Amino acid sequence: MTFDTAPAETAFPIPAGVFAETVTEVQHYTDRLLRFRITRPAAFRFRSGEFVMIGLPNAAKPVFRAYSIASPSWDEEVEFYSIKVPDGPLTEHLQKVKVGDTVLMRRKPTGTLVNDALLPGKRLWMFATGTGIAPFASIIRDPETYEKFDQLILCHTCREAGELTYGRELVASLKSDPLIGEMAENLTLYDTLTREDWPRIGRQTDLMASGKMFADLGVPPINPAEDRGMICGSMEMLRDTKAALEGFGLEEGANNRPATFVVEKAFVD
Ligand code: A2P
Repeated sequence: MTFDTAPAETAFPIPAGVFAETVTEVQHYTDRLLRFRITRPAAFRFRSGEFVMIGLPNAAKPVFRAYSIASPSWDEEVEFYSIKVPDGPLTEHLQKVKVGDTVLMRRKPTGTLVNDALLPGKRLWMFATGTGIAPFASIIRDPETYEKFDQLILCHTCREAGELTYGRELVASLKSDPLIGEMAENLTLYDTLTREDWPRIGRQTDLMASGKMFADLGVPPINPAEDRGMICGSMEMLRDTKAALEGFGLEEGANNRPATFVVEKAFVD
């Protein structure tokens, strides 16, 4: 048997039952954020919005962490958007990945931020802070989302402007995408900053409570007849956004019990 290229050398054996994939692209946004893409195994199937456990082949028992898949289910590669934590057990190493490196990925994706967990509706609201935008990067690239909802609103709140770049570049690129372009006219990005000057200032929860968000977007306040929500961020953000949506009369759903909003914790370390 011959190989076109020698198999990559790793100091540790690849654990049984996981995919070992190759990094194809890396982009750093700030000193805290990066995006990377890996090859996609033919056997890896997932629904847009799900997460999967990933790790690095750098130990006999590698550390795995849950990562939202940021690419849509039709994409031939798999994309992730990650925070870099200086002493994070996985991210301190993951932030150094280069094209050609190996990333380990468990076989079974899962998650609640999927179209199936929501009843049909008119508008889909996606609420994200920080890297919580990752599952929505998948969902807004999936034509199925545009078939199910007339309007998509992606709300993203960060501390500083550099943290909004990933979402802004993605939404801009979608508008000229051959597959999604025309449908993406129904997608609006509503991004806000809390610690730097920006056209929209403040936490999205506060902008909802004051009604400014609805006035800015020219839509009625959230109501259970028309609106559906997905939330992804820190524990505190999930708690406050969930309370806000419940205040508007929405109810939390799950894969086996679709309702009017769903919640998922963003990756933290
Ligand atoms: P703030 O700067 O007012 O704390 P973090 O990096 O801490 O996860 O925060 C990311 C973004 O989410 C920040 O803009 C932060 O605003 C905002 N944020 C933090 N906690 C909440 C919350 N409970 N509800 C809404 N937004 C929040």
